[in-house]
Amino acid sequence: MAAEPVQTPAIADLSIADQAPETKATGQIVTPFDVSGGVDETGKLLPVDYDKLIQQFGATPLTPDILERFEKVTGHRPHRFMRRGIVFSHRELNKILDRHEKGQPFYLYTGRGPSSDSMHVGHTVPFEFTKWLQDVFDVPLVIMMTDDEKFMHSQKIEVEDAKRFTKANAKDIVAVGFDMKKTFIFSDFDFIGGAFYENICRMAKRITINQIRGTFGFNDSNNIGEFHFCATQSAAAFATSFPHIFGTDRKKVASIPCLIPCAIDQDPYFRQCREHAERMKFKKPSLIHAIFLPALQGPGSKMSASIDSSAIFMNDTPNKIKNKINKFAFSGGGATAELHREFGGNSKVDVPFQYLTFFLEDDEELERIRTSYEKGEMLTGELKQRCIEELQKYVVAFQERRAKVTDEIVAEYMRPRPLEWKGNPNPVVA
Ligand code: TRP
Repeated sequence: MAAEPVQTPAIADLSIADQAPETKATGQIVTPFDVSGGVDETGKLLPVDYDKLIQQFGATPLTPDILERFEKVTGHRPHRFMRRGIVFSHRELNKILDRHEKGQPFYLYTGRGPSSDSMHVGHTVPFEFTKWLQDVFDVPLVIMMTDDEKFMHSQKIEVEDAKRFTKANAKDIVAVGFDMKKTFIFSDFDFIGGAFYENICRMAKRITINQIRGTFGFNDSNNIGEFHFCATQSAAAFATSFPHIFGTDRKKVASIPCLIPCAIDQDPYFRQCREHAERMKFKKPSLIHAIFLPALQGPGSKMSASIDSSAIFMNDTPNKIKNKINKFAFSGGGATAELHREFGGNSKVDVPFQYLTFFLEDDEELERIRTSYEKGEMLTGELKQRCIEELQKYVVAFQERRAKVTDEIVAEYMRPRPLEWKGNPNPVVA
């Protein structure tokens, strides 16, 4: 079933989670390490079929019902990502809404694999959404920087590189605007030990090589660190890993669950975690999943930090953004202006239109652009221009915030310390 946005019927047409053809997607692979919609008979890349993924993974589509309940319980209109099928599926979000309704504690957990010096706009999508959730729920947030994971998984990245990327990426993450009082960012290399390591070991003891092989696409040539890391990413879903935030009353703290906003490729880690959590006397984490931001080259490709022309980086200049979109952004427009005027453009495959779906807040303007483009009134050049403006605005605002993030500020976010939030006006003493 498609992820149906909750708002007006017009907005339903803006959903891009359901754009993939249902029949052709042979050989689709989505693991944390490999994302591909497969190829068709002619070798053409196919877009990821998100409906099929939901089914394969056994996740639940984010239906209008749950979005309505979200609005009722939180008093906030669902984020544009939720309205437009960009955040499109979940696992037991209802349990988190129940807790929020009753004023029971929970926290948010997300993370980032630091694999390059600058993040791109695709990386900031889950973080933007997480920041919004933090504002809406007013709960603590932990952000894992998986420098260990990136070291294990790459021939090129040394420990020192991964640590450097962690620092640079943590600055990018802080610049998204997280509330320092409620946010703890940690590097696995630095933070693992104590209560967190105990939970990693509890988890590792339950996971067999067999379970990991299939879920993560590993084989006997993967190194043992890659296998072990699966326990690390899971263990941060247990509140007892963070005694400086939640205290040391083990029984009480073990009953605090988390909500994990993430891109859908991270789901395998948490399926595993959910499978074991209750036998370990923890609550299962809930999840809320986002689709990927397509690369400039179009559906079927994914922004890559190592291919400059595939992505808009958060440190690209306005001029560079303009050139990249004009030069590389895949267009769903007609081959000539005449053909375009006659037959209109295809907004479902058009990259500038898709980017607007991610970044343009105004539903009505987006809908106006869509109709006008599909009718052939708006030309590709004009659409690109609108997309350039919006992305420049987004990236420049980000850069202004990032320029103010000093090393000291990042260090403070990364210091294990008590956090303060509404449900806990008297934070614990570590
Ligand atoms: N493995 C993730 C990555 O490579 C990083 C990560 C760790 C993460 N914990 C997470 C992402 C929780 C989302 C949610 O990017």
